[in-house]
Amino acid sequence: MKIFIDSGDTNEIREAHEMGLIDGVTTNPTLASKSGKPFKQLIMEITEIIDGPISAEVVSTTAAEIIPEGEGLAQWHKNIVVKVPLIGEGLKAVKALTAKGIKTNVTLCFTASQALLAAKAGATYISPFVGRLDDISTDGMQVIRDIRLIYDNYGYETQILTASARSPMHFLEAARIGSDVITAPFSVLKQLLHHPLTDSGLKKFLADWEKAQK
Ligand code: E4P
Repeated sequence: MKIFIDSGDTNEIREAHEMGLIDGVTTNPTLASKSGKPFKQLIMEITEIIDGPISAEVVSTTAAEIIPEGEGLAQWHKNIVVKVPLIGEGLKAVKALTAKGIKTNVTLCFTASQALLAAKAGATYISPFVGRLDDISTDGMQVIRDIRLIYDNYGYETQILTASARSPMHFLEAARIGSDVITAPFSVLKQLLHHPLTDSGLKKFLADWEKAQK
């Protein structure tokens, strides 16, 4: 499973990259505005840290506007993936951008049926938001299971990018299901590393080593 970091913070993107964890980056308008940097500057800084897919989201809502906005974003760098909302106008734009060889990430997906439509439009990635579904008492990971089944049934090549991941259990379950990619905040990626037996085991090894030196 590929791991993307969901972040607009270049310090944490760099740190996660140095740990060898990161295959790509997802951003969204909320994360980009939190960075306090102009959007293009932020994305270009990220391209210098990570040599992998970097999702940059459009803010237009009609196909007539999304298409040129997406073309503009794609020109910034070869690794840009244009992130487009899962609305009818968005899917029209995905079809047009795909025809021009531009990669797309269809975002704000909440059902497997929406994911099927995005695949038909030619999306490179589909981003189902599992955490936000859990927030409204719906099983987010079931949507990932359903999408995996449907994409495999029909041989769609759109990659499932499990998004809005909020916990180590989302990560584990996504890997079990066969999600192609997961994107998670740095806090979740760090949680994955920790186990109390790793920490106590290391402490004991080091203490025993010290004792033997005396
Ligand atoms: C995905 O691409 C989104 O940026 C993100 O995963 C949303 O996560 P949130 O629901 O925690 O805001």
